[in-house]
Amino acid sequence: MDLFEYKNNELYCEDVPLASIAQAIGTPCYVYSSTTFKQHLEDLEQAWEGTPHLTCYSVKVASNLALLKIVAARNLGADIVSGGELFRALKAGIEPSKIVYSGVGKTASEMAEALEASILMFNVESAAELELLAKIAADKNLTAPISLRVNPDVDPKTHPYVATGLKESKFGVPAAEALELYSLASQTPSLRPVGLDCHIGSQLVSVEPFREAASILKDLILRLRQSSIPITFLDLGGGLGINYFQEKPPTPAQYAGALKEVLSGMPDLTVITEPGRVVAGNSAVLLTKVLYLKQTQAKSFVIIDGALNDLIRPSLYGSYHAIGLVKSNDGPLSPVDVVGPVCESGDFLAKDRPLPPVAAGEFLAVRSAGAYGFSMSSNYNSRPRAAEVLVSGNSFEVIRNRESYQDLIRGE
Ligand code: LLP
Repeated sequence: MDLFEYKNNELYCEDVPLASIAQAIGTPCYVYSSTTFKQHLEDLEQAWEGTPHLTCYSVKVASNLALLKIVAARNLGADIVSGGELFRALKAGIEPSKIVYSGVGKTASEMAEALEASILMFNVESAAELELLAKIAADKNLTAPISLRVNPDVDPKTHPYVATGLKESKFGVPAAEALELYSLASQTPSLRPVGLDCHIGSQLVSVEPFREAASILKDLILRLRQSSIPITFLDLGGGLGINYFQEKPPTPAQYAGALKEVLSGMPDLTVITEPGRVVAGNSAVLLTKVLYLKQTQAKSFVIIDGALNDLIRPSLYGSYHAIGLVKSNDGPLSPVDVVGPVCESGDFLAKDRPLPPVAAGEFLAVRSAGAYGFSMSSNYNSRPRAAEVLVSGNSFEVIRNRESYQDLIRGE
């Protein structure tokens, strides 16, 4: 679900016409619907009801403090992958005891910061990382709660760049090595094994790979418990897909239902999930303005003021994002390339996309841009990053100012 709807041919976010935001704040800007974002969190909570669980919102997906505060206000946790994300999560008021930390390249100082903050657990991704974490914790006279990120070698059937649970991937440790590492960890005084973790990929549109991974991890937990290694947290990562075009991803209820089935008969287990896209993806649009129309012999281009530095997904993954006119019309559809001002032919938001007639000065909304949109944006071509706006009902607020030229050179 999302709350971007046309009323009298005008696209609204909740009760605010997007055109009024574009006029007040300028473009390009990201516009988030707070009600949509909250509803998605609520749907996940409902889906897991009756099972001991902790939802750790994946900070990398959309990291604005205003969004993280919504997560904190619901007493939910965070999945982080860097010291910067730890900083953001704590600033937003997310409880450290609800933060899990993944990533193959945690630095010594990042580990120290997370240890000092007393996070819930480190999702450790290699033997070398385990060794360094043990040393840093020992030096501080602390015990690091750990889980191993196991790579279950399951095909998530998604874009290769976002498939993370295949044996060729850099993530996690093979299931076969996990037992030995757990036994090493349990004999190391500065480490305390508390969980088991996996994350097999993103934008999954079937429950099967989740089911397969969960069942591999369940077997591992049973074996660990037999070896007196008391695992209490099973972190299943994120990955639930959304509808960008014609995908039919499982609902949160179907997803949780399938996993509950696999994990039935596992007492004393708290299920952790790290959803990101399913929460934020359809909660925002990238609002842009048409600068020029350009017709060549081969193509019709709609040149907009948003570009690959604002939303890199189409260029990087060939992702489809629906694009709608903020003021719709029922003129005939004809195929256009929607492109930005960046100096690369790879700078496009859509190719051969059927759009109704559109004129310079009109606003376009690039849909489903909330996940990995602003958070992957950059200053390429010395373009200040876009503003971010949060809508609640009939009001909106700027939650991140558009960057200025001074912001561009800060630190140089
Ligand atoms: N947990 C871990 C350890 C992850 O690496 C990720 C995403 C998530 C959770 C959240 O997954 P989600 O629920 O959002 O699928 N930039 C790409 C996606 C990269 C995914 C990275 N990891 C894109 O725009 O499609």
